Order: sequence, then C-alpha cells, then structure tokens
Amino acid sequence: MSHAGAGPEHAQTVGELLRAARAALDAQDARIDSELLLAHLLGRARSYLFAHPEALVTAPQCAAYGALIARRRDGEPLAYLVGRQEFWSLELTLDGSTLVPRPETELLVELALERLDASPARVLDLGTGSGAIALALASERPQWQVLGIDRDARALALAAANAARLRLVNARFAPGDWFAGLAGARFDLVVSNPPYIRDDDPCLQDAGLRHEPRHALASGADGLDALRRIAAAAPGHLGAGGWLICEHGAEQGEVVRALMRAAGLREVATHRDLAGRERATLGRNEGAAVDER
Ligand SMILES: C[S@@+](CC[C@H](N)C(=O)[O-])C[C@H]1O[C@@H](n2cnc3c(N)ncnc32)[C@H](O)[C@@H]1O
Repeated sequence: MSHAGAGPEHAQTVGELLRAARAALDAQDARIDSELLLAHLLGRARSYLFAHPEALVTAPQCAAYGALIARRRDGEPLAYLVGRQEFWSLELTLDGSTLVPRPETELLVELALERLDASPARVLDLGTGSGAIALALASERPQWQVLGIDRDARALALAAANAARLRLVNARFAPGDWFAGLAGARFDLVVSNPPYIRDDDPCLQDAGLRHEPRHALASGADGLDALRRIAAAAPGHLGAGGWLICEHGAEQGEVVRALMRAAGLREVATHRDLAGRERATLGRNEGAAVDER
C-alpha cells in the first residue's frame, strides 16, 4: 500500500495503512471494507486494529493489502476477497465460482419455513450455488432432507464443503440442469433463486456484478429462461400440495405469476422484500398434501 511516499517495500503501521486505504476506496463502505480486509489479512479481529494503530505491518503484508484494496476498488465483492459471507445465521465459505448470497434471498428461506412444519419433508434447492438456501433450511429444520442442485461443479464442491463444516448432515448436493436429472423424484418443497437478468442488461457490467459468474446472473433474452423451465417442470416434481418458491427480479412478478399459473400451480402469490419490491413468487401443486414417502 503506497502512502506518503512509502512503497510496499516498507513496513507501515496499521493506522497509516487504514488511512491510505480509506482514501483509495473513497466510497460509502470505505471505512468498514478497509478494516475488514486488513483484519482478514492479519488474521486478527477488527478490534485489534483500533487497539493497535501503531503496530507495524511487514512490507509483504503491506503489498498484499494494497493488492486487496485495488481489487475492492475495482468492484470485486468483499465476500470474494475475504472468502466468506454471512447468510441467515450461517457463515459460508465463498469463492468466485458462484453468486455472493444476498440478504434479500433470506425472504425465500422465510417463505419456505412458513409453508411446511418441522416434520420430515423432501426439499429441493435448484441453483444452490454456495448452498446458502439449502443450508439455511437444513439448519432450521433438521428433519427435512434437502437436496441442492447446480450445474457448476465448483459451486457444488463449495456447497458440500459448507455443509460439512457446518455439520449439516441433512443437506446433500448433486450436479444437474434444473430438474433434468431428477426423473421420478417428487418434493414437498422446491425453492430456487435462479439467474433472472436479461443477457443484454447493462447492469451486468456494473462494478457490483461484473465479478460474479454470468451463468449465475443472466438467463436469456428476457431473463426468464430459467424461471420458465423451472415453473413448467415443477408440477411433475412436486408431491400433492407441494410448494414452488422462486426469487425473481422486481419487475418480473406478474410474468412469473403467469408462468406458474400456466404450469397448473394454484394459490399463486408474490411477496415483497423489505424495500417493498416484488421479489418472490410461490405456487402450490394441486391436490391435498399426502404422505407419499
Ligand atoms: C443466482 S445464483 C443463486 C445461488 C444461491 N442459490 C444463492 O441464492 O446465493 C444461480 C445459481 O444457478 C446455477 N445455475 C445456472 N444455470 C443452471 C442450470 N441450468 N441448472 C442448475 N443450476 C444452474 C448457477 O450456477 C448459480 O449457482
């Protein structure tokens, strides 16, 4: 980290490094990000930085910190740089193979937990990524058996490692293309946060999104390819009375309701996030819930 004429070949103090990093980031989250990155690099709690502003940081560590700050300044998500992200009450390990789990996706977890009680249930998370939704549900409902599907092998390895580290033995993960590998399997609940941005949406180039994998974000000319496939195939994979719950873009509520109704789902309804935007739509397979296990 270069500061006041000092290059990365010199040791600097914690206080000097933080001041320079805050100035370099020059953004709303500059203070917290610069602190979290330095604490991560030094393997210390943030409180250490406040207690020891005069502590010397070695030249190689200064250089490594400078590189992290440069990546953050370029828009790379903090979660990729520190290799972890909190979701629900869980700390997940993360890498660039999949989406950074977003707080708004916790709405899907809430809706799922409201739909079924704690008795045994078969649950499917399509496009599981880091395993965020699957693991949140598995942690809240030890009696549920949760299967997470993703087509990306690195994301699946990450999800499985998260499950092992969190000791969530009721979650497992498998490769697949949405429902394609699940012939004959039926679930009480299917949740999905699929990609739903238009392929040509300029927001994909924004600093906030361009570091995340495109296949986790974009889905066809109108952004609805994945949601179309999931809605159409869901009734064939839901038990009687089973629920499908999907996240989607704030402008997609009406069309997702139409897709679910066209597929034959009942009780179709859209829920809003804390900002009041339509973000999750659910529908129910016909027939009363019966135990088919
Ligand atoms: C928006 S991310 C959601 C990740 C995670 N569920 C979350 O909420 O943080 C979408 C995920 O869908 C996966 N995906 C994309 N196309 C897929 C397909 N055809 N079949 C299965 N998974 C797919 C991506 O690899 C990515 O992990």
